[in-house]
Amino acid sequence: MTILITGGAGFIGGNFVLDWLAQSSEAVINLDKLTYAGNLETLASLQGDARHVFVRGDIGDTALVASLLAKYRPRAVLNFAAESHVDRSIHSPEDFIQTNIVGTFRLLESVRAYWGSLPEADQAAFRFLHVSTDEVYGSLAAGEAAFTETHRYEPNSPYSASKAASDHLVRAYHHTYGLPVLTTNCSNNYGPHHFPEKLIPLMIVNALAGKPLPVYGDGMQVRDWLYVKDHCSAIRRVLDAGALGEVYNVGGWNEKPNIEIVRTVCALLDELRPKQGGASYSAQISYVKDRPGHDRRYAIDAGKIERELGWRPAETFDTGIRKTVQWYLAHPEWVAHVQSGAYRDWVKTQYAATAPA
Ligand code: NAD
Ligand code: DAU
Repeated sequence: MTILITGGAGFIGGNFVLDWLAQSSEAVINLDKLTYAGNLETLASLQGDARHVFVRGDIGDTALVASLLAKYRPRAVLNFAAESHVDRSIHSPEDFIQTNIVGTFRLLESVRAYWGSLPEADQAAFRFLHVSTDEVYGSLAAGEAAFTETHRYEPNSPYSASKAASDHLVRAYHHTYGLPVLTTNCSNNYGPHHFPEKLIPLMIVNALAGKPLPVYGDGMQVRDWLYVKDHCSAIRRVLDAGALGEVYNVGGWNEKPNIEIVRTVCALLDELRPKQGGASYSAQISYVKDRPGHDRRYAIDAGKIERELGWRPAETFDTGIRKTVQWYLAHPEWVAHVQSGAYRDWVKTQYAATAPA
């Protein structure tokens, strides 16, 4: 048996492929366009492993996807591929529309044609799992109940609007065509192989380089953090046991304001890689101009996946963030390679115009 995953050279997809092959003999076909966020170094340990087939390509390339489906006949397609960075979506939304909306639509069309051609028993067993985000639900006020699966969609950034559109398409393909879909909406992930444009890896990498730690606005925006391996285990659980057409929220029961995250990272670095002279990395914190339209608070109610599928995160924030900081300290070469090329250009564009507040 085989599964096909998209976006498997990215942060979550890469962790998913590594975890899957550590636990299963079932092969993975990994379709990834290798945008700036795709990094095959994450999958270096799989070199020579016949269970992993990497194909560089776009989820919107209907001919390519059709040929992969016909050749490998996967029992499931898991869609991780996306443009994922909110700040980039604010600067240039076009790629988000193309990949997250048009790409998902074309992928659904290819999968629908393949699924329709399968024998009845294979059709019944087939799954299309769409990996989505809590950002589709919009922003919560302090004290408001966490997002459940029935919370109304209220996306506020081009990124979250494009993910919301993709979720609606996935839903429609189930209701209209009967495609056996599952959707997961997850909160903020962190962990190994996270591209250092996102808050936690950026803070680790900048701190070690002696650079400012740019905190947007007042730093009191709240996110609900989940260790990436826990997200991967939730996706495996939903794939195995999720009810067709259902949506499952995935989160860490772990709401924290950004400034607390940054201070925790600094404290761990102070302990694990103390600076000469004894100063704290927190002296590098620099409050900068806020993100336009910045959502104030996300919080996931992960009660449904726990009640119905028995999933809970294995890591606490304390254990997960320590593992994460340790991973970055142990893999300076991964960081250095990511930082060469397109990443550096992006950092220039994003932060050059962002003077300290
Ligand atoms: P990422 O940006 O690290 O990786 C995305 C991957 O998709 C990259 O390898 C990229 O090359 C690939 N890709 C982009 N466009 C493609 C296309 N048109 N065709 C094929 N491949 C393409 O993203 P991530 O953080 O790993 O997120 C993965 C998924 O999980 C996304 O759908 C994202 O919306 C969702 N998600 C992310 C988080 C998070 O905290 N990172 C939380 C919840 C949900
Ligand atoms: O909630 C799930 C989402 O989490 C995913 O769908 C997205 O793909 C993922 O990128 C993430 O989105 P965020 O915008 O929450 O993540 P980011 O790491 O960009 O920012 C986290 C918080 O930290 C947010 O409130 C903005 C703030 N921030 C971010 C950066 C990069 C800063 O204060 N300074 C920074 O330099």
